[in-house]
Amino acid sequence: MSRRVMAVAFAGGVLAAGAGWLMWPREAPEPPERSAAELMDVVMWGREPIGGPFALVDHTGAPRTDRDFRGKLLLIYFGFTYCADACPIDLQSIATALDRLGALAERVQPLFITVEPETDTPDQLKSYVAQFHPRLIGLTGDPREVRKVLRAYKVYAAKTVPAPAAAPGDDPNVDHSSLVYLVDAAGKYAGYFPPGTAADRMAEVIRQQLAAVVQR
Ligand code: NI
Repeated sequence: MSRRVMAVAFAGGVLAAGAGWLMWPREAPEPPERSAAELMDVVMWGREPIGGPFALVDHTGAPRTDRDFRGKLLLIYFGFTYCADACPIDLQSIATALDRLGALAERVQPLFITVEPETDTPDQLKSYVAQFHPRLIGLTGDPREVRKVLRAYKVYAAKTVPAPAAAPGDDPNVDHSSLVYLVDAAGKYAGYFPPGTAADRMAEVIRQQLAAVVQR
């Protein structure tokens, strides 16, 4: 390698590192408190209580708490808008399930809660949720409040540092659990759909949940 080529390569590396630093959110990412496997175990075997109150902001900028949604069966999904993996697929399944339910869908409220409140502003969420379903509500808020909600739902979310070879401008990725949580009309956690649950199966379980409420 000639000295000139080396100098160009070095300058390129410095630029890439600089661009990577600029792309990085202002707040240093907190290391996840518990591993993905541990949290999955907690949810799978119901080892700890799941869910709880929240005070967030919706995709129109309006404050929203869990109490606003009493009377509806909630489908809650956690993710982030620039996710290229699970989020678009799972949100599409939720949207299709709602369409399958027909008029019953009125009794169901789907929520998308961001794990990346620093970048997922209400505006960012607004255009994102509209891509999936007109009834889907996006929620963001104070990062500390969002973290509290993630802890309450035993959600795993951790930024993965882009490899040094990654192109400048690459968005940092976030590994996150991709369960769809069910919360009943009284605000009580009712269970979850495992990752990759088909829309038909979701619709079937939701119908059973809604029928059980009528029988009570
Ligand atoms: Ni995702």
